Order: sequence, then structure tokens, then C-alpha cells
Amino acid sequence: MLCPVDVILCMAIFETQVISEQQNGAVSAAVQQLSAGNLVAVPTETVYGLAADATESSAVQQIYAVKGRPSFNPLISHVADASMAKQYVKISPLAAKLMKIFWPGPLTIVLTALEDSGIAPEVSAGLDTLAVRCPAKETTRAIIAKLGRPIAAPSANPSGKLSPTTADDVLAGLRGKIPLIIDGGDTPVGIESTIIGVRDDKLYLLRPGTITSDDIADATGQPVLDRDETEISAPGQLLSHYAPNASVRLNATRKQQGEILIGFGDIAGDLNLSASGDLSESAHNLFKILRKADSKSERIAVAPIPDRGIGIAINDRLRRAAAPRTEP
Ligand code: TXA
Ligand code: MG
Repeated sequence: MLCPVDVILCMAIFETQVISEQQNGAVSAAVQQLSAGNLVAVPTETVYGLAADATESSAVQQIYAVKGRPSFNPLISHVADASMAKQYVKISPLAAKLMKIFWPGPLTIVLTALEDSGIAPEVSAGLDTLAVRCPAKETTRAIIAKLGRPIAAPSANPSGKLSPTTADDVLAGLRGKIPLIIDGGDTPVGIESTIIGVRDDKLYLLRPGTITSDDIADATGQPVLDRDETEISAPGQLLSHYAPNASVRLNATRKQQGEILIGFGDIAGDLNLSASGDLSESAHNLFKILRKADSKSERIAVAPIPDRGIGIAINDRLRRAAAPRTEP
């Protein structure tokens, strides 16, 4: 087996091709690359993913090498449907209920992995769990179905940087490092999926997203507990993450000298997440506007975002964007 150092040493230089998802043969081209053990950036409804065949260790190792991702940070396995997930994880009735209600869609579920499932050990970074998600984006589900195996896919950006919401964003971070990007346009949700851990018929929020704890509690009739209350290991939720090059100051009601202000609602700012104060629109715009602000200034200030509903997920990303840039 190749060790990560070998992978880095032989990391190929590619002329990165961008193919529209509407182009004939787009799905086949992606499947061909994945079958050959190469990486392909694919659109999802949340952010673009950097995909590898999840059953191929050497392909999965390339994800870590290309992103510069710490090897202890596990990857999400994307499946075509719940029956594909069943081949790789133990699905309790509560997990089945979550899949039935929220899939396909931006909900990742961490479950106990089946032994000898065939998923490469690097995907789970040594944990006995596997994170599974069925993306809403049809093209990407078609790619997974045609491959016949899950794809491991983190966000398609260099580790710790802003997540990509367009094919151009992927190119900006990974040009020359991967052979193919499938362009599925602008991602509608704009921030990464909600991650829920399920253990002993209890639900734990491991990462907030646009499907909120309240949505999940309402739909299942079960409370969603805090991640501090679980022993499910959730490594990789690093304090500094989603970081622009600029410094980030939060809860700013007006800008200080040299800053660019990202507004929300009544605080207009130089750029605005949502003039009407809509949290879903703000999530859609978050990484886009952070990128734009980053290209214009070395100091970004952001207006307060209400810490409820989808605002909880937005504030989670903003806190990480503003955190000191050294790993904890
Ligand atoms: O919306 C999304 O989830 C996007 C798109 C591409 O699907 N993917 C994404 O992947 O955000 P990534 O790698 O950027 O974030 C995955 C998170 C990490 O924080 C990782 O620690 C956690 O999922 N994770 C993966 N497997 C896990 C496991 N077995 N147990 C606990 N956490 C896990
Ligand atoms: Mg990421």
C-alpha cells in the first residue's frame, strides 16, 4: 500500500478539465476517472466535493495529499441511496427514519461501520464509524450509481480554506492538482451538510447545517443532543477552518478603518449576506461573500447574525473563520 508520503511524491500535475454537468458524457467521464483511481470535483447541493472511489485506499490517500488535510480528519461517504448505505453501515430504525425524511439532502449521518465493508480505512481515519450522506444533486447521485460504490468526498478546497460553491472556486484552489471538475453551477445551499451522530437510539449534533436540530427533532420526535454529550468521536472540527486570508472580526455594527464590512439585514455593509435578514439566503451567500471580501481587503468585519435556526450554522462557520490561524 502506498503511504501518504509516496502519494505526495508522485502527486501528478494535471491539466484540469471542466465539464458542464449538462454536457453529454459528463457522468461517464467522471466515472472513468474515479474507476482509474483519480480524483474528480463534483457538485452537491451544499458545496463542491473532492471525490474518490471510497473503496480504493490509494485514491482516498490522494484526497488527503491534494487538500493537505490532516490524516486524523475522516471523510464523508456519499451514496446513491439508502440501500447503498446499508451495504456499509448498521442502520437502526431511527437512522432509517432520518434517511427516509431527509435524503436525498444535506444531512450526513454517522453510524457504526460494518466490518469488512470494503470501505478504505483512510475514509474513517481509523474510527469504527462511517459518515454517510446522499446528496440532492442528481448528477452526482448518477455518478455514484454508475460507479456502483460510494465516493469519499470532503469539500473541494485546500484544507482549512473557504469551501467552494462554484466550479471556478474549485479551480482557484485545485487547478493542476486534479484531472476533472464537473460543473453543476452555483450550489444552492451554500454551506456544508448538517452532521448527526446516531448511537443507542439517541441523536447528537456533530456539525450544524441548514437542516436544523429543531427540524430533526420535529421530524423524528426525538431531541437532538449536544455533541459534548456523546462519546462519538468527531475529529476534524478544527477551531480555525473556513479561513479567508484576511482577518475576520465578528459582531461588527460598523466598520473600522481599513475594514470591509459584510452586512446582514439593517446593517447594510459594503457587501450584504441578506438585505431582508433571511438566514437561508445568508447561508447561500456566506462563502461567496467571504471570498469576495477577501479579494478586496485584508480585514473583514461581519455584522451580527442571529444565533437561531440556520444562523447557528452560519455563526459556527464565522467563528472558525475568525479563529486564530494556528491549529489547537
Ligand atoms: O456538505 C458536505 O458535507 C460536504 C459535501 C462535499 O458533501 N462535505 C464536507 O466534507 O463538508 P468535509 O470533509 O469538509 O467535512 C466532513 C466532516 C469533518 O468535520 C469530519 O471530521 C466529519 O465530517 N466526519 C467524517 N466522518 C466522520 C465520522 N466517522 N465520525 C465523525 N465525524 C466524521
Ligand atoms: Mg471542508
